[in-house]
Amino acid sequence: MSERETWATRLGFILASVGSAVGLGNIWRFPFQTAENGGAAFVVVYLAAVVIIGLPALLAEFVIGRRAEVNAITAFDRLDRQNWKVIGAIGIFAGFWTLSYYSVIGGWVIRYVYGSATGAYFGSPDGYFGTISTGLDAVALHLLFMTVTVGIVAFGIEDGIEKATKLMVPSIVVLMLGLAVYAVTLPGGGEGYAFFLSPDVSAIVANYRSVVPAAVGQALFSLSLGFSVMITYASYIGDDENLGIDGVSIAAFNTFIGVLAGFVVFPFLFAQGVDVGDAGPGAVFVSVATALGQLPFGRLLGVVFFGVVLIAALSSAISLLEVVVSYVVDNYRFGRTRTAVTLGAVLFVVGVPSAMETAWLGWFDAVAVNLLLPIAALGVVLFVGWVMGGDALDEVRRGTGGAETLSMVWLWSLRTVVLVAVGLTVYLSLLKLSAPPL
Ligand code: TRP
Repeated sequence: MSERETWATRLGFILASVGSAVGLGNIWRFPFQTAENGGAAFVVVYLAAVVIIGLPALLAEFVIGRRAEVNAITAFDRLDRQNWKVIGAIGIFAGFWTLSYYSVIGGWVIRYVYGSATGAYFGSPDGYFGTISTGLDAVALHLLFMTVTVGIVAFGIEDGIEKATKLMVPSIVVLMLGLAVYAVTLPGGGEGYAFFLSPDVSAIVANYRSVVPAAVGQALFSLSLGFSVMITYASYIGDDENLGIDGVSIAAFNTFIGVLAGFVVFPFLFAQGVDVGDAGPGAVFVSVATALGQLPFGRLLGVVFFGVVLIAALSSAISLLEVVVSYVVDNYRFGRTRTAVTLGAVLFVVGVPSAMETAWLGWFDAVAVNLLLPIAALGVVLFVGWVMGGDALDEVRRGTGGAETLSMVWLWSLRTVVLVAVGLTVYLSLLKLSAPPL
């Protein structure tokens, strides 16, 4: 047998993981979740969730992947624990489910690239979002986004995507930083900063039943955890790499981009007088569109900004689809193209309700983030903490030159704090889960 591929460089792996992690979750989802869950109080719980749950869970997925060196479902066979394959299966299902509505939002972004070029939204940023986000137009753009995603996965123009991602992450940072700096000059933006930055601790305590699951779900979603992606990526890492340092870099960078989006969105919403609580899934679109309307070269900036967001969304969407496609191709002898096209068609249909009605999109999102992801994460944490145990310790220590204490802290936190916190999230999420908006 030939030796299995590994990432050419360490940076390659980190960038690929960041490329998967940085997407609509940071730019679209984080701001409106913050808006809906009490502002700064949510941010605090989210940051805690990234450190306490996200990071250990990320390392846990890395450990499974590097140990097994194979796809996320077969991994459990390799580790001699067939029954745990269900974790990989939930992850793949979650990816499929998520992509159905992710593509609808991707469609909105395409619409905004085009709308920026024509200046369509400058007159009424708030009204424009309401008009384009649902209905036949939204369905058509959802179809377009899905078609592009399927096309890339089917024909595998990896070069294009890899190069695009290398440009995308720096461009997002530069453009967001620029907008954030501009936001400082806005009259009336001050309240936006207060909303985003000064937490009301009593609000956290009073609303923990909704804030905790929302924040944990957001931490998992934005780190691409629970979808078996990080297991898969880590299956290509070399033995001599320090997983801890990689995990910290990826988590820090990913969180930075979400927080940066908040620095753009909130001052603008407040300056514009949009009620933050009502902003919902349109928050980032409305606020950025407002900003662009006031800036010189607004149209050009808009095309660049939404263009970059589109690339970020596409690169995440492709990896979501790739997980499902590669599983089917490896196990069922279907051709790659046929699989991608068939799955894309099914995904399109499943996404139609989300494109017709925002309540459906919200429901699909809630089921994915508040239910499927925490359950998959709970499985990973239990598996690595209590089933792999000592093996997991050996694996995480490889390439670190020991790290005796830190790795023990990691293992025991998985076994205790992380397990309890994720378990609590699953429980609270189950209580909160609502029926589909039929
Ligand atoms: N993390 C991505 C984002 O923030 C979304 C996402 C979640 C994802 N799970 C994934 C992307 C798996 C690719 C693969 O938008």
